[in-house]
Amino acid sequence: MKPLLLALPAIGALTFAASGMAAPAEQPGEKIYKARCAACHSVAKGDGPGGMAPNLAGVVGRKAGSSEFKSFSPALKKSGLRWDRKNLDAYLKSPTKTVPGTRMMVSLPDDKQRADVIAFLASQK
Ligand code: HEC
Repeated sequence: MKPLLLALPAIGALTFAASGMAAPAEQPGEKIYKARCAACHSVAKGDGPGGMAPNLAGVVGRKAGSSEFKSFSPALKKSGLRWDRKNLDAYLKSPTKTVPGTRMMVSLPDDKQRADVIAFLASQK
């Protein structure tokens, strides 16, 4: 009997530790996304707040300007870009240099922040 009683708290502690580990930790890129992108964009269903900007769920791998968003600039639609990580990185570093005529003016000059946001976007299917 004694060993079993001793084992019970240990099992409790393990379960606690396991559930703690399973809790979804916020990725660094999610914080940046919320602070710098979410005012215009959404990664849930539909376009961003007020139809201001295209949905970004599944954007990694997608053709530029190809979602249901109605107000893409002709420049972005005609860019012929596919949003792989390299093109996204260039666009977020300098949208107007990468796609002259784009309607997105927001840039992320910090290399690490761009990498983190792109990793976050890649996790949003
Ligand atoms: C002030 C509003 C605004 C903010 C803030 C903003 N964007 Fe945008 N974004 C837009 C608009 C508008 C477009 C459409 C541009 C066009 O059609 O030329 C766009 C387009 C994009 C696209 C291309 C989507 C596609 O389907 O081709 C990506 C990727 C993108 N934004 C990522 C981001 C990220 C990442 C952030 C945060 C760092 C961000 N945007 C912040 C307004 C915004």
